Amino acid sequence: MNSSSQILAALRSNLNGVSGGDLCNRLGISRAAVWSHIESLRANGFEIIASPHRGYQLLHEPDLLLADDIQSQIETEDLVGSKVIVIQETTSTNDEVARAAQQNQPEGLVVFAESQTKGRGRLGRKWDSPDGKGLWFSALLRPALAPSECTRLTAATAVALIRAIAKTSGITPSIKWPNDLLVNGKKVAGILTEMSAELDHVHYVIIGVGIDVNQTAADFTGELKEIATSLKVESGNEISRSNLAAAVLHELSRVYDQIQNGAFPKIAEEWAANCATLGNQVVIDAGARQFAGRAEALDETGALLLRTEHGRLERIMGGDVSIVK
Ligand code: BTN
Repeated sequence: MNSSSQILAALRSNLNGVSGGDLCNRLGISRAAVWSHIESLRANGFEIIASPHRGYQLLHEPDLLLADDIQSQIETEDLVGSKVIVIQETTSTNDEVARAAQQNQPEGLVVFAESQTKGRGRLGRKWDSPDGKGLWFSALLRPALAPSECTRLTAATAVALIRAIAKTSGITPSIKWPNDLLVNGKKVAGILTEMSAELDHVHYVIIGVGIDVNQTAADFTGELKEIATSLKVESGNEISRSNLAAAVLHELSRVYDQIQNGAFPKIAEEWAANCATLGNQVVIDAGARQFAGRAEALDETGALLLRTEHGRLERIMGGDVSIVK
C-alpha cells in the first residue's frame, strides 16, 4: 500500500479525525511528507480539512477509481487484484488484458477503465461504457481447468458479483442464464468470458465485467431505456465504485479459490438459488441451433441442462435465453 492509500485508510477508519503526529508515526514519514500526500489527495477531489483539535478529517470522497486505493481495500491473500491497473480510456479492457496475457503477465491482474470506446458484450454486441458511471474491468486468470470446464468461471463470476453488489448496495440481483444480472427485470451487469486455449489446455481466460453503477434513468437512451438499469436507479443511492470494485475483487478471489479446490458444486448451488431462468419454460437461441424446453439445472461444468419438449436433456454452453413462462 502506498503512503496516500495508508493515509486514506487511516482517515476512513476514524472519521472524527486523525492527528498529523499520529499519521507520521503510523507511516514513519515526516509531517511535511504527510502534508504533501494530503495535498495530492485533495487534488484528486478528496475533501480533507485540517484543524488543531481534530487533525486531518475526511469529509467527502470523490467517486474515483485509484489502483492503490482499490488494492488497499482487499485482503493481501486475494489473488484477483494482486495487480490492479486503472486507465482513463481504452477500447476494451478485455483487449488490454489480452495484451498483458500475451506478455506473460501472471494471473490476478485486473484492468479497470473509466471509459471504453469499443466495449463489447457477448455475440459481438456493443457495451455502453460511459465515463465514470460504472465498473468496466477485466481479470486475467490461468486456471487449472479443461477448456470445457471454463464455463464454471462465468457462473462463479455471477455469484461473486451478486455477493459484492448485495454487500455494497443492499440490492440482490438475479441471474439470467448464462451471464446477465437483472434487477426488476432490467440488466444491471454482464460478463464476457474470453479464452485462449488449445483442445486440452487453457493458456488464459479473461473475465470481462460491466456493472452499471451510477447512471441516472436519463442516462439510458434508445433501446437501453427498456432493458438496462443501474444500481443507483434501483437503490436510490449513489454507490462508491471503489468500494464495489474492492468487494467484487475479493469475492472473485474467493470463488476462484473454491473452483480450484474442487468446490464448484457449492458455487453451482448458490448460482441456482439466485437464478431466475431455472424452472421456467425457455427458448434458447444458441446461434446455429434453437432449443425450447424447461431450464432444469446447471451441470458440473457450468452448462445449462434443458429438458426439451421431447423429454431429452440437452446440455447448452451458451446462447440467448427468453423466458416463455
Ligand atoms: C454482456 O452482457 O454481453 C457482457 C458485457 C461485458 C462488458 C464488459 S465491460 C469490461 C469488459 N470489456 C469489454 O469490452 N467488455 C467487458
